[in-house]
Amino acid sequence: MEYTKNIILKNARQCLLRNAVGEDAREVLNVFLRTREQTDFLSSYKDEAAFDEAFEQQFLRDKARAEREAFLCAVMDGHIVGTAGVEGKGGSKVRHRAEFGIAIDQNFWGLGIGRALTAACIECAKNAGYVQLELEVVSDHSRAVSLYERMGFVEFGRNPRGFCSRCKDWQELISMRLELN
Ligand SMILES: CC(C)(COP(=O)(O)OP(=O)(O)OC[C@H]1O[C@@H](n2cnc3c(N)ncnc32)[C@H](O)[C@@H]1OP(=O)(O)O)[C@@H](O)C(=O)NCCC(=O)NCCS
Repeated sequence: MEYTKNIILKNARQCLLRNAVGEDAREVLNVFLRTREQTDFLSSYKDEAAFDEAFEQQFLRDKARAEREAFLCAVMDGHIVGTAGVEGKGGSKVRHRAEFGIAIDQNFWGLGIGRALTAACIECAKNAGYVQLELEVVSDHSRAVSLYERMGFVEFGRNPRGFCSRCKDWQELISMRLELN
């Protein structure tokens, strides 16, 4: 699914939101690895990444072709600083539901990129015909929880042993959903 939008950030700089394509593989992979070093709020660690640039390239090519999926990136000064995506759940009983995920380089937090990428993914999910967008977030990740609440997501459950962190033991996960119709 295609998406392109130019936005002005809180620091008055320009940022381009667009689909990530095969040629972006190296930068997308770098953001993936960097964000897993910068925060303990994601579902995996940098040393667990079991894919390389070639795999990432194929992944992005497949995403760009998929009618009901989107993998977007935020580009500043020609470089990718964050990514976000919408992924469907499969068979006919869950065809109405999609999963949302996002990760932005810490050097670019607080500028409005998270909000803009989330809004872009909501738009893509609606256009793809999904009626519910879902996510999971660590309960003490106040920046993300506040972002999702402002975008209209509501909590529908908690998993006290959602993640087992290397640094903090258990991390509670909040399940959130947004109705799109
Ligand atoms: C969570 C994340 C996506 C937020 O992205 P961001 O670009 O910093 O977000 P924005 O600048 O658009 O801010 C969005 C909201 O976050 C909240 N926020 C911003 N700065 C904040 C701060 N310093 N403290 C707490 N909340 C803050 C605000 O509610 C803001 O909404 P507003 O623009 O209406 O004021 C980003 O921090 C990130 O990628 N983190 C690492 C990966 C991750 O945790 N992903 C989410 C997994 S569920």
